Amino acid sequence: MSYPSPDEASDASPDRPAWTRAQAAELRRTDETVSPVFYPPSERIDPDLHVWDSWLLRGRDGSIAEIDGWRVFFSLTAAAELLPGKRHDVATIRYFYSRDGRNWRTGGRVFEEANVFGSRHWAGSALYDEDGQVYVYYTAAGDAEEEHLTYDQRIAVGAGGQVETNAEELRLAGPWEHSVLLEPDGDLYETESQSRGPIYTFRDPWFFEDPASGETYLLFEGNTPTPEGSAACGGEAAQQEFNGSVGIARSPTGDPTDWELEPPLLDAVCVNQELERPHIVTHDGRYYLFVSSHTHTFAPGLTGFDGLYGFVADSLRGEYRPLNGTGLVVANPANAPFQAYSWLAFPHGEELLVSSFFNYYDYDRPSMDDVAFLPEAEQRRRFGGTLAPTLRLTIDGDRTRIKGKLAHGHLPVESEDLPALSAFDDRERTDAGSYGRYGTPEATDTREE
Ligand code: FRU
Repeated sequence: MSYPSPDEASDASPDRPAWTRAQAAELRRTDETVSPVFYPPSERIDPDLHVWDSWLLRGRDGSIAEIDGWRVFFSLTAAAELLPGKRHDVATIRYFYSRDGRNWRTGGRVFEEANVFGSRHWAGSALYDEDGQVYVYYTAAGDAEEEHLTYDQRIAVGAGGQVETNAEELRLAGPWEHSVLLEPDGDLYETESQSRGPIYTFRDPWFFEDPASGETYLLFEGNTPTPEGSAACGGEAAQQEFNGSVGIARSPTGDPTDWELEPPLLDAVCVNQELERPHIVTHDGRYYLFVSSHTHTFAPGLTGFDGLYGFVADSLRGEYRPLNGTGLVVANPANAPFQAYSWLAFPHGEELLVSSFFNYYDYDRPSMDDVAFLPEAEQRRRFGGTLAPTLRLTIDGDRTRIKGKLAHGHLPVESEDLPALSAFDDRERTDAGSYGRYGTPEATDTREE
């Protein structure tokens, strides 16, 4: 089958910012964007759990909350006995807390009550509001009553959590008031029944306060309807199925449980199906919009990576331009193409820090699907199931560059001093010919540079 060249393909909604095929056609790993190879830590954050998509508890202005000296992150979790590939089907949100942002203790399940809107919890974000109330935004995936897995998704919140602390621990407790905040309308955002794509999305709410206007928003991952026979992608049906968008809703009142859908911030129609976990960092008056995406969710004719992609605009609803020309900000290295996923960027002075989870390592097949062909023991051994090393990036206008890394799960607040960046060895990322170059898979990696 032949596809129109990137330049010929038209976008579904030319009137709003788009990640175009012409931009994505130039995607390649570069010195600025390739991550160093990650190795296993000496131990997981919690040996009894798989830990993956994670997010910090933050204030309205996006800063990391510090409550009596404690900070908190939330994560999708599942029992470590489970085959890693099955974890999405039973995901539950747990919280973890720390005084130094390095050594984390498991707090436990956030919600003890059953998921009333779905069968499992997928990713979200968490707000520590000025009155001390905690709002945990999440995706309610599937249906509460289902006998077999289904993939409907809606954006929900548990509101009203309270934090208690003492010298030894932090406790997050309900009662939580759960409500569905957003569902796809079928016009701006595709419903599951409209979807023709490989993996339907309406998920991953991210709280964001615009510093310019003080208005509050929820960003999320969505799909733009591209009905059969539409003119999108030059009429190429195979490309139309790849219709990811960064969705957005605005709170008319500032109430963190009151949202109205607005048109997407960015479309990736004809380019990519999944713009996952969208979030914004403001820096030097600009808006940096980041998403995670997979190599297998690029439309036919395009080649991308499991990586962090980014776009920059001069205002929240500005004309987003892809960072580094193509959008690529962090790519897993070619010899460990699935070592990390679900990146989150957060500011640290003039730097950007980027956390993620440690995914499949010591694994260089071109597709993650092939993990299923490994013996079960190998599937478990090669799955990180904990936070990955945090990357350090410099940022200058439309350009970013990976300049160093911190230890697995090291999540510093802005006031924490970090080692000088100059120690990072650029060759570490480009020279690594095979996974074993810096040690066996059992070797642990705690260097910070
Ligand atoms: C990305 C993701 C999220 C989703 C979660 C489910 O890591 O696809 O979009 O919420 O995984 O496990």
